[in-house]
Amino acid sequence: MKKGFLISIEGPDGSGKSTLIKELAQFYNEKGVEVVVTREPGGVRIAEQIRQIILNPDHMEMDEKTELLLYIASRRQHLVEKVLPALERGALVLMDRFIDSSVAYQGYGRGLDLGAIHWLNQFATDGRKPDLTLLLDLPASEGLARIQASRSDDVDRLDQEDLSWHEQVRQGYLAIAKKDPVRFVQIDASQEFQKVLADALDIVIESWSL
Ligand code: TYD
Repeated sequence: MKKGFLISIEGPDGSGKSTLIKELAQFYNEKGVEVVVTREPGGVRIAEQIRQIILNPDHMEMDEKTELLLYIASRRQHLVEKVLPALERGALVLMDRFIDSSVAYQGYGRGLDLGAIHWLNQFATDGRKPDLTLLLDLPASEGLARIQASRSDDVDRLDQEDLSWHEQVRQGYLAIAKKDPVRFVQIDASQEFQKVLADALDIVIESWSL
């Protein structure tokens, strides 16, 4: 049976993941491929409700481990309800964030134990990793400036963290990518968008043959 392909797109806030995902989806849709575009936290009803709890800017008292566990709960529900069935049908699944976001944000950003996060990720996914991960890398200052310019009225709880925190998250991503160079491909997201898209397409076409 034809097997699907799971690509996660990761990167600091404001790195342009959603624009890239839209373009990749269009490229493959035009080739007649079933493309499922989805995101974490969210993507299905229960997980979208968890997302509201996590990102609500009023919830400043949220404990860091509570935050991690909510992301993990959302991950599990989304995976079993939406992602695995899509892969079973042979679809190309483009996921805006997945397991590596917890390592970068809750591990490197919040300082929670990396071993515990890996264990929870494994538990939530039964070990299903992305077939390919595109890491859109750019300095945290550039990412935050983009967020402020594009959606200053829609800033969530994590966007409110300071610059050094976001830079720590970025360095976390770079460290994870270095450890797993087969799954991760790093793209320079500070380039102009057409170049980012061209780089991403080259990588995906090489990694997944139709
Ligand atoms: P979102 O608005 O989707 O941000 P972005 O467009 O930058 O992806 O909000 C998701 C936020 O949740 C983002 O700041 C990253 C964070 N996050 C974690 O901290 N841990 C996780 O495991 C996931 C999936 C996301």
